[in-house]
Amino acid sequence: MQCKVCENLNKSICFNADSIGITYCTLTNATNGLGWPKISKEVFDGNKINWDKFFEERDKEIENIKNNTPRKECENCQQIQIAEYSNEKKIKYVLLSPWQICNSNCIYCLGHELPLDKKSPNYMVDYKKVVEPYDIIEILQDMISKNILDKDAKMDFAGGEPTLYPRFDELIDFLLENGFNNIIIHTNNIQYSKAIEKGIKKNAISLMISIDAGSKKCHEKVKRVKSFDKVWQNFKKYSKAKTKDYSGKLCTKYVIVPGINDTEKEIKEFIKQSKKHGATHVALNVYNQLLNNMNYEENLLRHLYSLAEFYKEFAVKEKLNYTLFPNIEYVYTKLLT
Ligand SMILES: C[S@@+](CC[C@H](N)C(=O)[O-])C[C@H]1O[C@@H](n2cnc3c(N)ncnc32)[C@H](O)[C@@H]1O
Ligand code: SF4
Ligand code: SF4
Repeated sequence: MQCKVCENLNKSICFNADSIGITYCTLTNATNGLGWPKISKEVFDGNKINWDKFFEERDKEIENIKNNTPRKECENCQQIQIAEYSNEKKIKYVLLSPWQICNSNCIYCLGHELPLDKKSPNYMVDYKKVVEPYDIIEILQDMISKNILDKDAKMDFAGGEPTLYPRFDELIDFLLENGFNNIIIHTNNIQYSKAIEKGIKKNAISLMISIDAGSKKCHEKVKRVKSFDKVWQNFKKYSKAKTKDYSGKLCTKYVIVPGINDTEKEIKEFIKQSKKHGATHVALNVYNQLLNNMNYEENLLRHLYSLAEFYKEFAVKEKLNYTLFPNIEYVYTKLLT
């Protein structure tokens, strides 16, 4: 039956850190900037999800969208569309971000914490807050045994830095052993993972690597840690793991931060390095806060547009697939309206 629905609410689940917790919605409503609040204690008690309650509560939210009485977080959301609705109790997209610690300190990133000091008296409390607020493997195991997780589900890792989660390789191995082959890992690529290498060999893992620079000097300005050589060394090892039927993406990503990395020279060098080290794709974005604060000044929009055009041309020249992320797409839309 065709009706008003939100595909995201209907199909996904988001595992966040303790401060946000588990949510139904993996996106923010761009019209009001609101994210979904934590699901209730009745649904998730801190350890286990009551799946009957989970779907019961979710169905209520979907009913409200259908009846034009959505909760405030969903009002006028771009994700609400007229589409075929099925109340199948299956999750097809999982966002995994329970960990917040990171070994980088990107100038544009608001969502990370410093690695913990094991000797600190608060270590265990902090560990529970920003590294392992709940046992994610146990929850996924529960979903599999109850046939809730679609076998083709997309498993999307973000954070924080996923590879710093002490059980990261165990988690990846668990997913591979259970046949999941649509795993995407967002990483800064500083920490090498044997499990990622195995997943690339099995054609089950794609990487989205945030590099944001072409030169060592600029990389250090954006990331604020010395890691340029390590990142490319690791990338080279991963790209060597590809077999000839690899159909995933080894994508390098560049977030433009004006005044720091917004030059054609850096973008050109970034694409050259990506090609040299075996990337299959490159992606471009501009950092979120800029679009929120710039009031769409014509000069800045034109500058971003011309960098994006240069990036596309040079990627084609180097025979790399390219992607423009939504913020850059938005720049094009703003210039054309
Ligand atoms: C939060 S990071 C987590 C995963 C991993 N640490 C990484 O850097 O890829 C996920 C993605 O969000 C991007 N990101 C973080 N903060 C951003 C911001 N303010 N604007 C645009 N992209 C951002 C990063 O570049 C990265 O590609
Ligand atoms: S309508 Fe928007 S805010 Fe509401 S659940 Fe869907 S994506 Fe999230
Ligand atoms: S590497 Fe990722 S999580 Fe860490 S600071 Fe950069 S964008 Fe944030």
